[in-house]
Amino acid sequence: MGSFYITTAIDYVNGSPHLGHAYEKVLTDVIARFRRQLGDRVHFLTGVDEHGQKVQASARQRGIPPQQFADEVSAEFRALLPKLSISNDDFIRTTEERHKKVVRQVLQQLFDKGEIYKAEYQGFYSTRQEQFLQEKDRNPDGTWPEIFGEVTEITESNYFFKLRQYQEWLVGFLAAHEDFIFPRYRQKQVLEFLKEPLNDLCISRPRERLEWGIPLPFDEAYVTYVWFDALLNYYSAVADQPGVWPAAWHVIGKDILVPPHAVYWPIMLHAAGLPLPGGIIAHGWWMQSGSKMSKSTGNALNPLDLVAEFGADAFRYFLIREMNVGQDSDFTREQFLVRYNSELANNLGNLVNRTLNMTTRFAAGVVPAAGPAEDLERALQDLWTKTRDEFIPLCEGFQFHTALERAMFFLTETNAYIEKRAPWKLGKSAAPSDQALLRTALATMAEALRLAVALIQHVTPGTTEKINAVLGYTPGPVWREELVWGTKLTGATVAPALVLFPRPAPPAGEKKG
Ligand code: MSP
Repeated sequence: MGSFYITTAIDYVNGSPHLGHAYEKVLTDVIARFRRQLGDRVHFLTGVDEHGQKVQASARQRGIPPQQFADEVSAEFRALLPKLSISNDDFIRTTEERHKKVVRQVLQQLFDKGEIYKAEYQGFYSTRQEQFLQEKDRNPDGTWPEIFGEVTEITESNYFFKLRQYQEWLVGFLAAHEDFIFPRYRQKQVLEFLKEPLNDLCISRPRERLEWGIPLPFDEAYVTYVWFDALLNYYSAVADQPGVWPAAWHVIGKDILVPPHAVYWPIMLHAAGLPLPGGIIAHGWWMQSGSKMSKSTGNALNPLDLVAEFGADAFRYFLIREMNVGQDSDFTREQFLVRYNSELANNLGNLVNRTLNMTTRFAAGVVPAAGPAEDLERALQDLWTKTRDEFIPLCEGFQFHTALERAMFFLTETNAYIEKRAPWKLGKSAAPSDQALLRTALATMAEALRLAVALIQHVTPGTTEKINAVLGYTPGPVWREELVWGTKLTGATVAPALVLFPRPAPPAGEKKG
């Protein structure tokens, strides 16, 4: 049994969670559940990033202390998790003592080793991005790009982490670990970035400018730069749990890959003498009308609205089915409804209805034993084997969208099988051969349904559970064994009906009366 530690980025608590944040949790949860199914010992961490300029500024705007502000917004992020059926084992806040303790320890250790030095720094500073800018960041006309907000020239003494001296090492490491970053083309982008010389990293902020952070253990007049603080959450959360670090995979958005996760983080760990994580998965962005969904753009969708309307599983299914991990996707309600109606309500929903309805009607609600398979049954069983054998490696390679497409195809073909077998016709005939075929048909559709929902249970855990319940079935502990076509349902008593994916109500304006 392997150990598998998986983390999400920790969200800034300067505003409410939106669909982009929800997606990352869902994607990570799908991976975590999948690994558990494979038998790994999974530890799943998520949490919030509470320090730094953004949070301090938002709290000031509200006129309340930053801790109180962080408490409120963190509670909102935390409350979202069960609503999305997220199976995290831990939730970390960077204001917790267990985290601050580790950050201070690592800082002190690096300082003692001579990896951190103090120097005078003069430069252009972006408050919005909390970073000093370089000449190459300017627009061709000399102005600063919009994303940096207000930029001012300042001079101050600060502490620097010797990033530059590890550049060669990092290039060598990435060259030797081609799969460190998923998708692979992102790893190439990191190597491209590393062709330019790195600057040492300014890891302190004078307290008079930024109060809301972890004080440096060796100079209390400064607090730690928010990224140095935040990245360490992955380690601080499990530092006292033997065997968890470093079997880690970090799931993050592509905007925070270079430089924080792909450059600062490996170098910080290496300099501190800590082992490196297994890898980084950089997903793309949810967009709306062509721009990144975000708090500042004001185009952010509240995931809770969709969950309230369609349920957690439909929401999870859509996000995972629609997004090719690594690339961007545009979110539209129309596309959501297309998948909801055609794939969940029609394809899966119909199979559930037909199975329950016909088993009730033709077999008094008890799944019969199948007779010998004929061509139609054999074809469906062969398709099952192919689907399952492709599905698992696709999920191992984070190709969940394609995996779900295959599962949907299997459901489509199962519905097509029912059309061809036409149990309703067989039910009208008293001939023993037709009755035998009817039993085979009922057993086949129930078995296909059981298998399909076992296959996608990491994406739709609640739906799988509900369907198993109406099939009168309790799955065994070994997932792979659940995926073998067999007779597990023979003799099971099914419920007469289940409403799974109700048709959404028409928009308010179209309602009658
Ligand atoms: N606090 C830092 C991360 C520190 S990790 C040690 C941060 N926070 S964030 O709230 O801005 O973003 C959190 C995560 O949400 C990031 O991985 C980011 O990429 C992701 N998303 C934010 N908006 C997004 C979309 N529109 N689409 C998909 N994910 C995006 O960065």
